[in-house]
Amino acid sequence: MFLHNWWYVAAWSHQVPSGDLVARKILNEPIVLYRKNDGTISALEDRCCHRFAPLSRGRLEGDDLRCMYHGIKFAASGECIEIPGQDRIPSGVSVRTYPVVEQDRWVWVWLGDVAKADVSLIPRAIGHEDPNYIIDTGELAYEANYQLIHDNLLDLTHLGYVHENTLGRNNPEWGRTQPIVEPLRHGLRVARWIRNHTVPPYMPAPPGMRIDQWSTYDFVVPGVFLLTTTLHPVGTADLHPHGPIDLQPLYTSVTSQAVTPVGEKATVYRYSGGQPAKHATEESVRAQLASFGVAFLEDKTMIEAQQKVIDHSPGKWMMTLGFDRSVAQFRKLMADLIHSEGSPEERRSSSSPEPVTAAG
Ligand code: FES
Ligand SMILES: [Fe+2]
Repeated sequence: MFLHNWWYVAAWSHQVPSGDLVARKILNEPIVLYRKNDGTISALEDRCCHRFAPLSRGRLEGDDLRCMYHGIKFAASGECIEIPGQDRIPSGVSVRTYPVVEQDRWVWVWLGDVAKADVSLIPRAIGHEDPNYIIDTGELAYEANYQLIHDNLLDLTHLGYVHENTLGRNNPEWGRTQPIVEPLRHGLRVARWIRNHTVPPYMPAPPGMRIDQWSTYDFVVPGVFLLTTTLHPVGTADLHPHGPIDLQPLYTSVTSQAVTPVGEKATVYRYSGGQPAKHATEESVRAQLASFGVAFLEDKTMIEAQQKVIDHSPGKWMMTLGFDRSVAQFRKLMADLIHSEGSPEERRSSSSPEPVTAAG
């Protein structure tokens, strides 16, 4: 089950260089991305309407795309503009196009009804385009359903176990403290203090230094995680239990992550990490990404193993415990949105019948 009427991250900007045809699958739909001469990106159905050859094996001719099976040529609008050996182009010879927005180094594609493609729904990544931050990026492919990755990100209790020796830094507080959870328009804000913690090893701080760590993140539809971590002198959490409002942190780190379903049991996870340029270096941010890389493999190992057990447990129900509050709330939010779209037939009948032009 997928939410169709929403924006999804299809790629990092740097993954769509001029002249390349980039194949993607999102919500089981094959899509080809390419950059036009004006620098904007087009997204077309990666399936020639003639005999279904993938257009990502085609040839770019200016802003047009030629299928390299039998040579039909399509404009960036998806319209067929040339058929070898015949002058007349029958009506309806076209491929679907998808609205595209490139923002914050992410290429967002709208998968649903074009008439509903509201750009204001796209969340802003933290620091991706801000010269005051040094940011680096990474990506991981999962053989698991996207909701299991959402669950993982919505409950940082797992830092004390899955990441016991990495992100959790051997602190039992991750399992003991309850986060503050607040509703957002299309998601949840989840925040908590971890008291008397060690500084993350990638931070440019004195080794062995102890701090109170405030971690606050927004997790928004359709699966975007936006986390800011600030480090404060030990004792700050007791003085400011609801968060370090207006306090200057000793150190800050940020991460933005997007979960994009490929199919029912395949998902791509794209993440950044960074720190304010005033106290970070390229090296400290590289170390942060390396440490994320190790930790996120720990998540992947656990979640893919969990997916296998789920596959072998038909008819069994999972439990919801106290620390699953945000997991349950976000699952309900997604389920309600998916339900409101109706069945595939209802979606098809309510979507725009007009040929669609990709936005820049
Ligand atoms: S499959 Fe594309 S032109 Fe025939
Ligand atoms: Fe994790």
